[in-house]
Amino acid sequence: MSTLRQNPEPVADRAPEARPTGAERPTRIAQHRRYLMCAPEYFTVSYRINPWMEPAKPTDTAKAVEQWQTLYDTYLALGHEVELIDPVEGLPDMVYTANGGFIIDGRALGVRFRVDERRGEERPFMDWFAAHGFEVIEPVEVQEGEGDFLLVGDTILAGTGFRSVGDSHSEVARVFDREVVSLRLVDPRFYHLDTAISVLDPVESPGGVERANIAYLPSAFDEASLAVLRERYPDAIQVSDADGAVFGLNSASDGYNVFISPRATGFEQQLRERGYNPVLIDLSELLLGGGGIKCCTLELRGKR
Ligand code: ARG
Repeated sequence: MSTLRQNPEPVADRAPEARPTGAERPTRIAQHRRYLMCAPEYFTVSYRINPWMEPAKPTDTAKAVEQWQTLYDTYLALGHEVELIDPVEGLPDMVYTANGGFIIDGRALGVRFRVDERRGEERPFMDWFAAHGFEVIEPVEVQEGEGDFLLVGDTILAGTGFRSVGDSHSEVARVFDREVVSLRLVDPRFYHLDTAISVLDPVESPGGVERANIAYLPSAFDEASLAVLRERYPDAIQVSDADGAVFGLNSASDGYNVFISPRATGFEQQLRERGYNPVLIDLSELLLGGGGIKCCTLELRGKR
């Protein structure tokens, strides 16, 4: 894995007394990412499958494309690689590519949507993976890909409660032969795991030491799941309800740059204090469909 950029100068816009010392502020390293995105050319809200969607409220497709383009351009400007899948007319949610699959080491597990409205996306995504050299595994159980499966270090955190079913967690464990930790979501606004957890350091640090860490929204989980999160990630950033409510956690990270909503101001500050570089991208139009930055970003891990 190649290193893109080391931590630059300390962030200047912080009061001196709040500036952590070098010992407290670890060096963050940006690592190269390869993502799959889909332009929202056919984006609209014509049905309601999550509480954010209001079909009666007009959407502005041109604005959605423009905002999405900024995210795309920013990934490229920071040295990442972005592949594109052709949007399909009549599949307005295809822009949320995180729900297209889950990929580790060149192996792509396809998805089986809970909701009928999105089932038409299953084949185009699997076809894309196959055409681009990935080994495709057809799913049996209902699950919505990287919307509910997050790779943190060697472990897969798996969400359930609204979309992906519990049985898909054992399926994903079998397919990738990894530890899977099931977490239950309880707030319908945070119906996919990637709306309530952000993986900040999904990668190994130099020297091979695992330094996986996350940020999460405590109120989105049941008590048992919270206990697991607290125990496993004692250093996690706990994000406020206000930042969660603007989809602050629906973010992507390369280990240094963390792509977040400009409205998640508290989270932005928490990230800076820990030496990350928040990169603010406004996807307000895509939030009308109940998605944000991470939803529009699927990580392509491994072989090509
Ligand atoms: N309208 C889409 C749905 O409800 C939004 C998907 C958001 N994706 C995500 N990874 N959270 O399925």
